[in-house]
Amino acid sequence: GTTKGGSPRARVAAYKVCWPPFHGAECFDADILAAFDMAIHDGVDALSLSLGGYATDYFNDGLAIGSFHAIQKGISVICSAGNSGPTPASVSNTAPWILTVGASTMDREFPAYVSFSDNQIKGQSLSSLGLTHEQYAMISSIEAKAANSSAHDAQLCYLNSLDPEKVKGKIVVCLRGINPRVEKGEAVHLAGGAGMVLANDKSAGDEIIADAHVLPATHISYSDGVYLFTYLNSTKSPLGYITLPKTKIDTSPAPVMAAFSSQGPNSVNPEILKPDITAPGVSILAAYSTASSPTGLSFDARRTPFNVESGTSMSCPHISGVVGLLTTLHPTWSPAMIKSAIMTTARIRDNKEKVIKNSSMYDATPFNYGAGHVMPNHAMDPGLVYDITPSDYLDFLCALGYNSTRMRAFSNESHSCPLKPMELENLNYPSISIPNLFGSKTVTRTVTNVGPPGKYIAFVYAPRGVSVTVKPAVLDFEKFGELKKFKVTMKVIQEEVQYDTYVFGRLIWSDDKHHVRSPLVVKAKY
Ligand SMILES: *[C@@H]1O[C@H](CO)[C@@H](O)[C@H](O)[C@H]1NC(C)=O
Ligand SMILES: *[C@@H]1O[C@H](CO)[C@@H](O)[C@H](O)[C@H]1NC(C)=O
Ligand SMILES: *[C@@H]1O[C@H](CO)[C@@H](O)[C@H](O)[C@H]1NC(C)=O
Ligand SMILES: *[C@@H]1O[C@H](CO)[C@@H](O)[C@H](O)[C@H]1NC(C)=O
Ligand SMILES: *[C@@H]1O[C@H](CO)[C@@H](O)[C@H](O)[C@H]1NC(C)=O
Repeated sequence: GTTKGGSPRARVAAYKVCWPPFHGAECFDADILAAFDMAIHDGVDALSLSLGGYATDYFNDGLAIGSFHAIQKGISVICSAGNSGPTPASVSNTAPWILTVGASTMDREFPAYVSFSDNQIKGQSLSSLGLTHEQYAMISSIEAKAANSSAHDAQLCYLNSLDPEKVKGKIVVCLRGINPRVEKGEAVHLAGGAGMVLANDKSAGDEIIADAHVLPATHISYSDGVYLFTYLNSTKSPLGYITLPKTKIDTSPAPVMAAFSSQGPNSVNPEILKPDITAPGVSILAAYSTASSPTGLSFDARRTPFNVESGTSMSCPHISGVVGLLTTLHPTWSPAMIKSAIMTTARIRDNKEKVIKNSSMYDATPFNYGAGHVMPNHAMDPGLVYDITPSDYLDFLCALGYNSTRMRAFSNESHSCPLKPMELENLNYPSISIPNLFGSKTVTRTVTNVGPPGKYIAFVYAPRGVSVTVKPAVLDFEKFGELKKFKVTMKVIQEEVQYDTYVFGRLIWSDDKHHVRSPLVVKAKY
């Protein structure tokens, strides 16, 4: 069939910044900055960077510096949040001028079932190979350990860790973790196994990834894995079968946050919520290079012009596509306005109308999804936007205590810092984060009307144990382009608050037609 990307008529200019590893590093700041310079010179409209390292001070971070140069020229910069989740505070690319993207699933799955006894467990796979007869002997990989291997290696199905005598013609059940998932299948395949069930370990929970396995295979959740191992233990000669994967659409719940998606809080500036947004980043169908195998593993000799991949590297370009469309629709909007439109129109509910879940099926939070899952059509017409100028960002850097040497990395024009530094929480961001709330605090915001005249009313879902007041609570816009200021006061409710714990709420400005939503993130301190 035919498939299109998020901004199908956009022209793509590609700048290579990552090269074969040198002392363990592949993507150097010098190359990244050279690419920013060239792209800015070439007049691109948006920069999509599926790239990032550990979060660090912005003056030390080539990507933060280069992206500032771009937004100064009105070029939006969209970056991956990183694949270091579910560890808290693992999010990369935390500078406030960057649009930072987490990864979630969509309503498409590739189910491949494993059946045994009277059970059928749903897994996922992109193996193109099916089993040939109806039932196979099954064995846990730890039981199939080669004499010269360790139980640890066999359990994880390392290459050469399995005994071909024990594996031959069987479905082998391997545990996820450490070595690549597809390599585990290769280990089973090389040992003469007929198929593989890949069971999650506890830390991977319910996160299932459809991989292009080299043998008939499926990947199942932790709880399903425990169930299957119990069956294997309960009988002398376990039998089972794996179905050929199919494509299923309209699945629910969707979206669900990917466990690998890096999480907030922002370790550099907790006053800025990161990630900003989430977009599809699990099992994404995309064009691919035949210069390498679909798995990137050295034993894999297959070549294909398209592939299915997962990661915030895949979600980032989804948002870049939306930015491309919005840039065409609203050519005068600043990067901050485009970002605001995308963030304030995002959804925090899934297609079952429940709060988006994390991969263990608990409610996810703004530390997972930022403002929510992108809703591209709504972003066309946000009603109000939170704009930020390059000069506002420079004031923010002043407030971080940057001296003139550090400031010059961002802007070679001399910027005079305000005598009284701004409060970091007062950057006109489309989300509000107060990481140290002692008693009470008031933050200010300014919204710009980019829709028809109208009266907006503030609705608040207060974080637990915190009272929130918005002043004024009604904003009456008489014309397009009008700016209005408001204040949000958050106050600890002593008898209800849990100190030193982040709690979450929302502020929504609504004129009935537009719902301009901002996450509220607060941690009360005693
Ligand atoms: C175990 O022995 C086999 C057969 O000699 C060999 O192919 C394999 O590499 C060895 N495995 C390990 C982990 O040393
Ligand atoms: C299955 O048996 C093995 C070996 O006795 C044991 O380590 C494992 O915990 C058992 N698994 C389950 C799910 O009962
Ligand atoms: C999901 O959220 C629950 C509750 O907050 C948490 O215990 C669990 O670790 C989270 N799982 C992931 C994969 O983030
Ligand atoms: C700014 O701070 C850096 C790091 O401490 C220092 O190397 C530099 O000399 C300072 N510049 C000025 C103008 O003080
Ligand atoms: C800042 O950089 C721009 C672009 O390189 C250059 O045109 C301009 O002259 C520089 N301004 C100053 C004050 O150095």
